[in-house]
Amino acid sequence: MADSIAILDFGSQYTQLIARRVREAQVYSELFPWNAPAEKVLALQPKGFILSGGPSSVYEAGAPQAPAYIFESGLPILGICYGMQALTHALGGTVSASHEREYGPASVQTRQTNPLLPDGQYQVWMSHGDRITAAPAGFIPLAASDNSPVAAMGDLERRYFGLQFHPEVRHTPGGMTILKRFVQDICGAQPNWTPESIITASVASIRQQVGERRVLSAVSGGVDSSVATALVHRAIGSQLSAVFVDHGMLRLGEAAQVVEVFQKNLGVKLAAVNAVEEFMEALQGVTDPEKKRQIIGEKFIRTFEVQARQLGMPEMLVQGTIYPDVVESSAPDRSQAARIKTHHNVGGLPKDMQFELIEPLRYLFKDEVRAVGEALGLPTEMVWRQPFPGPGLAVRCLGEITPERLDRLRAADAIFTDELAREGLLRMGTNSDASTSGTAQAFAVLLPVRSVGVMGDNRTYQEALALRSVTTDDFMTADWARLPYDLLARVSNRIVNEVKGINRVVYDITSKPPATIEWE
Ligand code: XMP
Repeated sequence: MADSIAILDFGSQYTQLIARRVREAQVYSELFPWNAPAEKVLALQPKGFILSGGPSSVYEAGAPQAPAYIFESGLPILGICYGMQALTHALGGTVSASHEREYGPASVQTRQTNPLLPDGQYQVWMSHGDRITAAPAGFIPLAASDNSPVAAMGDLERRYFGLQFHPEVRHTPGGMTILKRFVQDICGAQPNWTPESIITASVASIRQQVGERRVLSAVSGGVDSSVATALVHRAIGSQLSAVFVDHGMLRLGEAAQVVEVFQKNLGVKLAAVNAVEEFMEALQGVTDPEKKRQIIGEKFIRTFEVQARQLGMPEMLVQGTIYPDVVESSAPDRSQAARIKTHHNVGGLPKDMQFELIEPLRYLFKDEVRAVGEALGLPTEMVWRQPFPGPGLAVRCLGEITPERLDRLRAADAIFTDELAREGLLRMGTNSDASTSGTAQAFAVLLPVRSVGVMGDNRTYQEALALRSVTTDDFMTADWARLPYDLLARVSNRIVNEVKGINRVVYDITSKPPATIEWE
């Protein structure tokens, strides 16, 4: 078992970020609710604990508390923000409510040479109301800011530490060093969490779970299903059968790439089903966005089912569930409340089919999934691609979906992304940190609108196309990307000249909210 750190979640919006940062320090970390049963947390055999921040106040009735087992374990503990207050409260120190919330950048100065914080003065990110007014017995102040006399504290004997600021956010430039010192030096965890070690461990556990049985996988062209399939294939080879349903709504060249990569490069037994005509038929005359999504989701399941039967119904099914999905569904209070659109993960589990699931990415963050994919030999552009909705181009082809309109949209979309990539503006990956620039998602949308234009000496009456590109960290809110005018001009010229049937290009300048990223 790899060395690990247990992170207890007290409800901060940054908790997942702590886990990602610890893993960036190449130490496996796992998230648990603050009140998870002790046996569950200790089963991980962690080398130390991190207590996250959170919105509560320690003296409030029912406020989350630091559990006793962490102190009984004798292992090092790092409390961050509320985690520091919970630590203080549990060990007999005093936390006081403050009238002013300290939020934003602050400068801290170390007071004492210690194993957690490098000596000196540096920028950190604060976000707290309450503060420590008396550290518990055994603790000494390690750093102070103008507003927080105890910005960091430590009991060097017991290896307990508290930070009032957030080392996990990018606004604390030295934060990674601090977390690394905690997990590697203070907890003594070996930095061996790498794509290669993840693959080795996954391969062993997949083999154990599967035994001699046969496994089925649905490949959609998306990152998660591709990496999950490649990983399971690495483990069990020809016991795996993969199915790729080409519904005709992928981006330019994507369907061919899926077949090429899985069949030729990786040698996976992949059945590629050309279901384009059936999907087109089912979608004929349909313009309502929700209806489109439902038809595609349903049709996919039925097509997949036929394939599964032809393969003699393997007992197990690969699912590309990743860690944020697992964490979010175990913490219902932070899942998104209102359903704006029916989300379909084409390639998801048919509800009425009985399979035992294999979820090889269940403990991985998206950036780890991508790194593992690359290490398994998947092409870079496949694993680092921008997110693409399950129903594919269907939700970007407004109005009726026809093969001609899809081709038009695909061609225009390829021109847009090609020009962005050339300028280095096609940001790859979803776990984007605020420090990276470029577009988090960029695509074309074909509108159900025709307008008059002039080309040469002739009047045209053709379709209009919108370009959508956004910057965002989490896809919950987004802003439209301020793309250079020259680039937009070039894209517009190329589309109107090169794509038959489009004579007008517009740029979407709406943020989310009030708009959504996709148009349907
Ligand atoms: P919206 O349009 O809701 O999109 O602002 C937010 C993010 O979700 C993606 N998206 C989907 N992803 N199945 C998916 O797997 C879907 O049905 C779906 N609809 C939207 C969208 O591309 C954006 O990244």
